[in-house]
Amino acid sequence: MSKVQKLLVTGGAGFIGSNFIHHTLKSRAGLILTNLDSLTYAGNLRNLEGLEKQYQGRYSFVKGDINDATLTARLISENDAVVHFAAESHVDRSILDAATFIETNVKGTLTLLNGALACGGCRFVHVSTDEVYGALGDEGAFTESTPIAPNSPYSASKAGSDMLVRAFVHTHHLDAVITRCSNNYGPYQFPEKLIPLMITNALEDKPLPVYGKGHNVRDWIYVVDHCEGILRALEAGKGGEVYNFGGRSERKNLDVVHAILKALKKPESLIRYVEDRKGHDWRYAIDCRKAERELGWRQSVTFEQGMETTIKWYLDHKPWWQEVKTGAYRDFYSRYYGDIK
Ligand code: NAD
Ligand code: TYD
Repeated sequence: MSKVQKLLVTGGAGFIGSNFIHHTLKSRAGLILTNLDSLTYAGNLRNLEGLEKQYQGRYSFVKGDINDATLTARLISENDAVVHFAAESHVDRSILDAATFIETNVKGTLTLLNGALACGGCRFVHVSTDEVYGALGDEGAFTESTPIAPNSPYSASKAGSDMLVRAFVHTHHLDAVITRCSNNYGPYQFPEKLIPLMITNALEDKPLPVYGKGHNVRDWIYVVDHCEGILRALEAGKGGEVYNFGGRSERKNLDVVHAILKALKKPESLIRYVEDRKGHDWRYAIDCRKAERELGWRQSVTFEQGMETTIKWYLDHKPWWQEVKTGAYRDFYSRYYGDIK
């Protein structure tokens, strides 16, 4: 692959995308980034405040939809590569209404792939999730050859986009790689996902809704480690390959919640056991040895170190999350949880 100088990032105003932009501007001095984001409820320009000035000429923002074929074809033709984050990303929202997940995750990805073809092909990194593999029992871990078996409308829409990327590689020889990662946590995560919801609710002395018995297991990775993995996949990944990333940090949800309460010195009486998620995947675990072997990637922090940094970030950025926890977020929250006390 020829060296990438100009990179189009989709969904860069969201959680992982904004961390990726910060990390890339800091660690890859030669790269110029354009961020295309339509600013849904999950997109927040505060995540990127000051970057245009701090990295003059290296970062710009375009407000637009990945389903806008004219705009995306132009932006792709102006760049050497695409890193595609833009998506609807919350499982619970997909249970309430799957339509936008198909529109953005499936159709939006197709629009980008068509744009990449139209300009003669470009390097394309498709950021996907371990959830496309479905759920595990108490043993084992997902490898890149685990069959795709999505269980939620969210993971089905991501699996659909993965299959389109695979088909464009096979049919059109597009130079694309797919990354599949476990659950991320860190700064700028929208407080509808487990870790930021629990931290911010605890800080406000509000109930902490734990689904079912809280025994479901997730593997947690610090977001910057995932971002470095995506960069390695962009720089050194082999076209047509899939790379798994994970944090080697499996935890029961209840253990994560207890750790947060302990760190914040808040009482366990804040925990509320609520109705389980429909079709709740039992356990995710990732075998990331291929990325370690072929991309030289390693996670840099333990779960405990990453959580310490993350909790401190939410303590230091109260205005950020307080602003987010209003408006559209509140509407969704009350529709989903009712009025738990
Ligand atoms: P997020 O919901 O925080 O951000 C999504 C971003 O995409 C937002 O900025 C939003 O405005 C933008 N967007 C949505 N629809 C768009 C459209 N039609 N056009 C342009 N922009 C649009 O998501 P995230 O947690 O940062 O996840 C990013 C990617 O990583 C997703 O593809 C997700 O499937 C994948 N992923 C996430 C995790 C995780 O733990 N969060 C783990 C593995 C993979
Ligand atoms: P989430 O952060 O939504 O990520 P995902 O569903 O993609 O893994 O949820 C992580 C785990 O936490 C999952 O098992 C569901 C559980 N959970 C709760 O128990 N309570 C909550 O309020 C949320 C949002 C999640």
